[in-house]
Amino acid sequence: MELPEHIAIILDGNGRWAKAKGMPRSYGHVVGCDNLEKICNFACELGIKYLTVYAFSTENWKRAEEEVKTLMNLFRRYLKRCIKSAHKNHMRVRIIGDPSRLDPDIRDSIRLLEKESENYDKMFFQIALNYGGRDEILRGVQKICEDVGSGKLSADKLSEAQFSSYLDTADIPDPDLLIRTSGEQRISNFLLWQLAYSEMYFTNVPWPDFNNDELLKAIEYYNSRDRRYGNAK
Ligand code: FPP
Repeated sequence: MELPEHIAIILDGNGRWAKAKGMPRSYGHVVGCDNLEKICNFACELGIKYLTVYAFSTENWKRAEEEVKTLMNLFRRYLKRCIKSAHKNHMRVRIIGDPSRLDPDIRDSIRLLEKESENYDKMFFQIALNYGGRDEILRGVQKICEDVGSGKLSADKLSEAQFSSYLDTADIPDPDLLIRTSGEQRISNFLLWQLAYSEMYFTNVPWPDFNNDELLKAIEYYNSRDRRYGNAK
């Protein structure tokens, strides 16, 4: 079986999963968080080189204040725990998105996690936090304008590869496979530039129930596709 080099996942359905069990949405997020650790470990065991997950979007701030607070507290704990996984899996962890709106202690944890894991290269794990694809493209364009203004870059010579290097995912190959759990079939502002040629796998399974077998099913689906574009070999 050919492994996709880069898998991106939209982690969806924590809230509905919890509700179906008569539990508060926050319970779904806690279980979803534990599940992310399991799937990340399994992806590493399989030999997946790049894994990118959508944890919190620029739109998610509009959720109820209580839920945003719960999610931020979960990220606080998760980012600390993730240092251990990074050492265990020899995995480099990077956060994509705009950190400026996150609390200072969360930004400190991000810096520490990125620093502690920066020399690992068995797997590359990207967590999108306060991430929006349009926001990422805008931030990239702002930097490009600055570099054109200062003469570092010539506008008429800008290539797709150069443009990519201004995104949060600079030096990370585009995803081969996008997985979205829990039934919706939308991109929801995730990796808009990078998903141009990715295969898409949508499943009704909610994120907390998305186990190792479900990941293998998604990889089998990827294998069944006739890939002619993008990163196809
Ligand atoms: C989707 O469930 C999930 C999120 C809003 C993101 C939170 C993700 C986690 C807590 C998983 C762990 C991630 C990290 C990095 C710790 P939803 O609330 O959109 O579910 P619903 O569509 O059923 O309401």
